[in-house]
Amino acid sequence: MPTSKQKPTYWDYLGLEQLLSLQDGLPDGEEPSADELHFIIVHQVFELWFKLVLREVRLARDAVSAELVQEESVPLVVRHLQRVAKIFEHSMSQWAVMETLTPQDFLAFRDKLVPASGFQSYQLRELEILLGLDPAQRESSGFGDPVRAIYELADDSSGGKVAMQSLQAAMKESSLADALNEWLYRTPIRASVPRDPGDPEVIESFIEEYLAAQSAHHESQARIYGSQGTVTAEEATQRLRKSLDETQAFLRATDIAGDGRQVRSRVRCALLFIESYRELPLLAWPRTLIDAIVDLEELMVLFRTRHVRMVERVIGRRMGTGGSSGVDYLEGTLKYRIFTDLWTVRTILLPRKALPELSNSEFYGFHASKESDA
Ligand code: HEM
Repeated sequence: MPTSKQKPTYWDYLGLEQLLSLQDGLPDGEEPSADELHFIIVHQVFELWFKLVLREVRLARDAVSAELVQEESVPLVVRHLQRVAKIFEHSMSQWAVMETLTPQDFLAFRDKLVPASGFQSYQLRELEILLGLDPAQRESSGFGDPVRAIYELADDSSGGKVAMQSLQAAMKESSLADALNEWLYRTPIRASVPRDPGDPEVIESFIEEYLAAQSAHHESQARIYGSQGTVTAEEATQRLRKSLDETQAFLRATDIAGDGRQVRSRVRCALLFIESYRELPLLAWPRTLIDAIVDLEELMVLFRTRHVRMVERVIGRRMGTGGSSGVDYLEGTLKYRIFTDLWTVRTILLPRKALPELSNSEFYGFHASKESDA
């Protein structure tokens, strides 16, 4: 280590001596081949990106969690999230680098890795926890709980302890999804906020009017679909009625908070409100933040998708070194969604001209015409 009197150098600042001595692989005395070195470095690069991603997500979460989220702090949150999204976008090309490893190249050293696997990437699990992935979704993938698998290895090495402690600490933190929900909960809907005495009535009439508008829109949809002959008018009406019921269930969801507030319903109405009236100036930053989260989740799904296609190319459909069914297991993880409401709301959006008119749009900084300004 340099002493405080030495001039800074590039190598000391970046810890290059240590960094470049960390690619020896297993302590079996064998120097890794060029292919194995490649395999180790690509993994390490991903883990370094994960380290930065975790920092950025925590900063975004903290800024969204503030009691009063100032307008000017929203661009900062968006910047953190956009950096994360760009990292995942960029990492897509790293899978192509990984694919320069042919199946036979990998088979040459693969067996000695068993049972080590990316399944044990505790930073990816930490990220899932911090973002707010429901653990039940992992159970549905059919290959045990990766967090428990990491805990079971904690006593075997100092690395295992670090892995377990990192996950335990992350589980005590609030997630970005929770912070986002609390923030959405406070969104003014038709100029009303939760602390206003008449807020429940405003929300109820927002839901009522939205359902009426959707029902009217469905009538014209049933005519269009029915006239095209692919489905009968009755079939179209039936499907649209089902979707109206789904909208109703979505917007009138019963609560999760248990503290007497209608959190889930209000959060969903806020999302629908922001997405529907997204052009209103006061909604510009909220919608940009929501778009940034949708980008992030989409890119994470694409990251997983690209990984699984690379895996299929390199090992086919054989079992993974971690013991899962391999590609089949990984394909199950493509269904994971954290910000489910942000996706669901897209199904129930209406065209602008079919939306209920917003009576107090001036609250959101919108002036309909020059006359109304006068
Ligand atoms: C030749 C290269 C690779 C192959 C054949 C491969 C194969 C696999 C397989 C089969 C699994 C499922 C678990 C198992 O049974 O092992 C898995 C999981 C995983 N791999 Fe890879 N992998 C490769 C490269 C990478 C790289 C470079 C990363 C970068 C970090 C990575 C990250 C992960 C992660 C995070 C998981 C857990 C996914 C989840 O459970 O959600 N893999 N990999």
